[in-house]
Amino acid sequence: MKTALEAIRAAAQQELSQIADAKALEGLRVKYLGKKGELTAILKQMGSLSAEERPIIGQLANEVRADIEARMEACQRELKARLQEQQLKNETLDVTMPGKRNVIGNKHPLNLVLDEIKEIFLGMGFDIVSGPEVEYDYYNFEALNIPKNHPARDTQDTFYINDNIVLRTQTSPCQIRTMETRKPPIRVIAPGRVYRSDAVDATHSPLFHQIEGLVVDKGVTMADLKGTLETFAKILYGPDAKTRFRPHHFPFTEPSAEMDVMCFHCHGEGCRLCKGEGWIEILGCGMVHPKVLQNCGIDPEVYSGFALGMGLERVAMRRYNIDDLRLFYENDVRFLSQF
Ligand code: DAH
Repeated sequence: MKTALEAIRAAAQQELSQIADAKALEGLRVKYLGKKGELTAILKQMGSLSAEERPIIGQLANEVRADIEARMEACQRELKARLQEQQLKNETLDVTMPGKRNVIGNKHPLNLVLDEIKEIFLGMGFDIVSGPEVEYDYYNFEALNIPKNHPARDTQDTFYINDNIVLRTQTSPCQIRTMETRKPPIRVIAPGRVYRSDAVDATHSPLFHQIEGLVVDKGVTMADLKGTLETFAKILYGPDAKTRFRPHHFPFTEPSAEMDVMCFHCHGEGCRLCKGEGWIEILGCGMVHPKVLQNCGIDPEVYSGFALGMGLERVAMRRYNIDDLRLFYENDVRFLSQF
């Protein structure tokens, strides 16, 4: 039995010296020390030994077991170190390798232009507000002096949720919501999405964006309107930009106007871009109608104001010379990555 134990010790030593990986080590552990292992098999035969032999063999068996265990532990440590070394070797950093390009997106052209417009108005002391896209008929039409059956509703046909709730056709309802919740002096712009039941073509979309502007205070006049909007146009289009105001009609302003800028392509001569006009329409505006002020509990005898509304797509199309509105919404990366 003594020789058998020594043989096991020698065999284990021999095998351990050639171990290649953790799996093989585990195999050896089972082979020698496991429940059905060689050493265990010998220990099971201890009963057949004489009383004198038993403690001697027992002690030797324990020694052999401890020896094998210690070697296995050392072996494991060595394997781990080797693995780590290998990993470190594999992970060496080659600083001469070309880097991986991080593809990051860029801002949508509509947002680029919107940011610019926001900056201009913020610089003139305006706040930015917003209102709901699903809007009451009252805010979208009624309170803006567009009662049911008013012909202005024809040009702003929209999507009705029910008789009293619509997808807003304009950002003008933000005027009402602002005047209901703020006291003059008021200076706000309200950018946002609007909806109309229009068929899609190069210049129409059932969804587009507007930017509303509203100023209400004591003694606000048409001169303030013109000064503000001319300043806006000169910052947006450059100091040489020329503007003109044409009389127009909007139910919620009186008097009303449209502001054009001189075509920056032909400088007033007339070209394809301005359709031969020499001027390009940029926005609608006017002095807030006394009835609208009244609808919001503001006394038109004390306060006056001006309002404006512009289409963001139009401004962006002119800014970047884009001739088809649909490009903004198609999410074609070849288009979007140019900005
Ligand atoms: N809401 C108008 C539209 O969608 C645009 C507009 C015109 C807004 C004149 C205004 C304004 O605030 O004063 O056609």
